[in-house]
Amino acid sequence: MSVQSADPRLLGRQLKRVAFDAETIAARVAELGREITAAYPSGELLVLGLLKGSFIFLSDLVRQVERPLQVDFLVASSYGDATASSGNVRLLYDPSTSFEGKHVLLVEDIVDSGRTLSHLMDLVGERKPRSLEICALLHKHLAEHLRYGVKFIGFDAPNEFLVGYGLDHAENFRHLPYVASLE
Ligand code: IMP
Ligand code: MG
Repeated sequence: MSVQSADPRLLGRQLKRVAFDAETIAARVAELGREITAAYPSGELLVLGLLKGSFIFLSDLVRQVERPLQVDFLVASSYGDATASSGNVRLLYDPSTSFEGKHVLLVEDIVDSGRTLSHLMDLVGERKPRSLEICALLHKHLAEHLRYGVKFIGFDAPNEFLVGYGLDHAENFRHLPYVASLE
């Protein structure tokens, strides 16, 4: 990984390793697009991206879905500077679009404890969508707090702190075209 360790985007930090390179991600995102296309043969589909982490994944993903769809976003309050989830999730941006009668697909960057996602699924589920599913680029499978299944998973993630392709560390590294752990 010496080439990418010299990446000028890294703020002088070193990578521990690249977990998923750009080609691997692109191939899997294309497959996910085909899975999603096949899973929704009819009805209105609303793809709801959780900001900010899903912004790159969502934009690549929707271009691989070959059926009509709408895109909107949710902004949930994060943990702030705490490393552990408080379990209190508030919506800071809530789309004006109605969810009623639509297939809603919630798109998340990474499922860690699953706390954020469980609360958001509760909130969205109250608005009478026709169906409600989760698509996550990465899943750490540590999600003891997740009360819902993740129907579409890009990759099983190692239990490391990952950055890139939308994922940040203190708001940095979201623009890396690959997913990596930092030294
Ligand atoms: P959860 O509520 O504990 O599942 O936290 C999920 C959120 O924490 C994700 O949407 C990310 O914003 C953040 N997160 C969890 N693990 C990582 C990681 O390895 N790198 C970057 N962000 C992470
Ligand atoms: Mg996030």
